[in-house]
Amino acid sequence: MKVVVLDDEERIGSAVGEQFCALAREKANAVFGLATGMTPIPTYQYMIAQYKAKNVSFSSVRTFNLDEYCDLPRAHKNSFYQFMLQELFAHIDLPPAHIDFLDGNTTDEFAESERYRTAIEACGGIDLQLLGIGRNGHIGFNEPAENFTVESYKTALTPSTIAANSIYFDDVPMPKYAMTMGVGAILRAKKIILIATGSSKADAVKTMLEGEVSPRCPATALRDHADATVYLDPPAAARLCH
Ligand code: F6R
Repeated sequence: MKVVVLDDEERIGSAVGEQFCALAREKANAVFGLATGMTPIPTYQYMIAQYKAKNVSFSSVRTFNLDEYCDLPRAHKNSFYQFMLQELFAHIDLPPAHIDFLDGNTTDEFAESERYRTAIEACGGIDLQLLGIGRNGHIGFNEPAENFTVESYKTALTPSTIAANSIYFDDVPMPKYAMTMGVGAILRAKKIILIATGSSKADAVKTMLEGEVSPRCPATALRDHADATVYLDPPAAARLCH
């Protein structure tokens, strides 16, 4: 796994955002795997700025997001779908029909998982997958567990994830479940970029890069990927030995 340490999150956003823009320029029908949360916002801001400067078009890109809350309407302001609209999709020329999300309100999680797997496969697979990391080492909503997950599934969120995200819920209680791509589905992406910024991620980053590969820290699975790069700022890299 390649590790790149840059001065701050803005520089990381430019470096990573440029890779998404370059892919959109170079490959017709490029397939992006996208994440929500605070970490990717500078990346999305860079992509929006490049689009507004007419340096890139996303009109042939297809996107698949990692996860979505269960039991929350897609139109609710805290859904990950709305987050992506606000932070990226509404500001670029990505056609709405090219956006795919796991349906957190599905009544058949297995059918929905299979729909998502085949939709990604039909597009030729994810070319570039963006990831953040939870303080407990989660990727997507794959929380520490006894086994690595494979396909998309419905998962119970841990108290630490609920505590981290419940600050965003002021009108309804934070959902306790989410649909997420499994670790195996994430690893099928041709190229993966994980961004971690801030001191709160330093322990998870150390375990991801220097701990044993284990589902107790789902992000350690990325060490088995042929083309995975981690972008860190100095506080997130502070506990690394090398
Ligand atoms: C979001 C996701 C999560 C986040 C992680 C970090 O789609 O899959 O794994 O990447 O919880 O969140 P932030 O970036 O808010 O620290």
